[in-house]
Amino acid sequence: MSDAVLSQFKQPEKEKAVSGEGKKFKVGIIGTGWIAESHIESYMSQPDVEIVAAADIIPGKARAKLDHYGLTNVRCYESHQELIDNEELDGVSVCTYNRQHKDPTIYALERNIHVLLEKPFTVTLDEAVEICRAEKKSKAFVSLGFQPRFDENMKMIKKIVESGALGEVYYIQTGGGRRRGIPGSTFIEDKTGGIGALGDIGCYSLDMVLNAVGYPKPLTVSGYVSDFFGKNPKYNGADAKRFSVDDFGAAFVRLEGGIILDFRIAWAMHPDTPGDTLIFGKEGALRIPSTDCWNGSVGGPMILYHDICGEQAQTVIPLVHTRKGLFEMKIRSFVDAARQGLPAPVPTSQILYNQAIIDGINKSAKLGREVEIVITEI
Ligand SMILES: NC(=O)c1ccc[n+]([C@@H]2O[C@H](COP(=O)([O-])OP(=O)(O)OC[C@H]3O[C@@H](n4cnc5c(N)ncnc54)[C@H](O)[C@@H]3O)[C@@H](O)[C@H]2O)c1
Repeated sequence: MSDAVLSQFKQPEKEKAVSGEGKKFKVGIIGTGWIAESHIESYMSQPDVEIVAAADIIPGKARAKLDHYGLTNVRCYESHQELIDNEELDGVSVCTYNRQHKDPTIYALERNIHVLLEKPFTVTLDEAVEICRAEKKSKAFVSLGFQPRFDENMKMIKKIVESGALGEVYYIQTGGGRRRGIPGSTFIEDKTGGIGALGDIGCYSLDMVLNAVGYPKPLTVSGYVSDFFGKNPKYNGADAKRFSVDDFGAAFVRLEGGIILDFRIAWAMHPDTPGDTLIFGKEGALRIPSTDCWNGSVGGPMILYHDICGEQAQTVIPLVHTRKGLFEMKIRSFVDAARQGLPAPVPTSQILYNQAIIDGINKSAKLGREVEIVITEI
């Protein structure tokens, strides 16, 4: 892969660096549901970070969460606007459900506050574009919450592609899923989650391979989504009634540079897996085993297929066990980038393409035909 391709997403450094010897990085938590707990715990373990406030639109929810962590003096609000208007903040974690990713993020960016935004980026491509435009005008950045990026095994996939061991990549099969693993809560309703398996775990498997090949622009997509398990009480109990998102998605995507992406993701299905991830190159191929509970990790030793001296050979790439927690690394990388004026660790410019594919799958599925992916000027 050429330097030009791999460096296309190199971000300009942002003006706003949160520096100062001994000064703590002041952070606010927006949305205090399940994932906020990992954000709070990870910030609390950073000696140079102070959680100064939290907000949740459910009255009393933020207070109860903070009290649980002994953060009894930290202020609480019932909207992201109130939190941002009343506090001096260096950064916020946006831990709201998908339908509420855009508004708090833009509100923070307009006030030059750095944002760590949970995945998926948004529900629609239009929302993601709006965030990118707000970021362009802001002195602050948005980093997306893809903690698998910090996994050494994920980094190895990218290193293998960049080493040239596969030669020019032309075909990728990716995705994964669970035989039964439909979440509940706010994930399964259109008014909160907006997208189902596609956004929850699909964005991770897309990131696994797109990041490895330098995030080429998606050009067209032919997509399919279904909800047979989510809507069926036999498989989803009482939640079947309120289930209004996808539980399975599949797509055939053409990427810039002539790469074909064959993708499928499931919260529920009858087989145990829709297959491992495979990256085909002209000089070699890489098999990345899937996991039972697909959440963006490598399921076992990877296999590199190649020819040596005219013989077909395969090399096993052992799994690396990361010592530090991935979530803590994601939090640390956000704080470090904000403090040092560095580019966002997981930039919007890349994840915009990830979102464009998800959006394209939904559009194509609705129309029942292939669609062109059009990303308007940021
Ligand atoms: N990175 C990961 O490993 C990971 C894991 C789980 C969930 N997530 C993502 O995190 C997000 C939240 O998931 P969750 O399971 O914590 O959901 P959740 O429903 O438990 O929590 C979301 C909270 O946000 C609050 N909220 C909504 N809009 C708000 C607003 N404008 N201001 C303040 N509070 C608001 C809700 O009342 C709710 O309490 C989702 O986008 C999800 O995809 C990421």
